[in-house]
Amino acid sequence: MSEHPNQQPSADAHAPSSKPCCGCAGAASTENRRGFLFAAGSTLMTIGGVLVAAPIVGAALAPARNADPDTWITLAPASGFTPGKTVLLKFTKPTSAPDDGMTSSSACYVRCLEAGKFQVFAVNCAHLGCPVEWFEQSRLFLCPCHGGAYYEDGSRASGPPPRGLFEYQWRVENGSLEIRAGRLPGLQEGT
Ligand code: FES
Repeated sequence: MSEHPNQQPSADAHAPSSKPCCGCAGAASTENRRGFLFAAGSTLMTIGGVLVAAPIVGAALAPARNADPDTWITLAPASGFTPGKTVLLKFTKPTSAPDDGMTSSSACYVRCLEAGKFQVFAVNCAHLGCPVEWFEQSRLFLCPCHGGAYYEDGSRASGPPPRGLFEYQWRVENGSLEIRAGRLPGLQEGT
């Protein structure tokens, strides 16, 4: 076939091109995409595996952490409370591990009825566990999550909580107020 008179013959018309042809580029791109998707899928599966395994490992270790539910901890000198007052106190959970960080601390409300006589409430609402707040003026515990309210003796006043605040067992030993903090108070404790 004759060439067009104005067409310049190409010296390297049959030389291998430095640019990949369209088909080669597409294949390489597909390979890259497959590799990326495979790596991403593997990473997600690894993360998923860790997320699934963590609670199982935690549950396996739980009996060791809850080994001593009868642990009593000291809150404060019993003589330091004022009758008629309710105060918030923090303490370190006896079931915590050294690497638990902030989760190792908990809190409770201590209501002093008279010298040597107390009620000690869990801070967690009996509905879904949000921390309740004590309001001295209204003498109510109020829950910020769904509006649950409790009277100063911990009994339910209104809102979704099905019952009053859970209470810790307490005692006065050697002049100090102690609570049985080895377990969270709850239905299983009957408090
Ligand atoms: S968690 Fe307190 S009212 Fe729902």
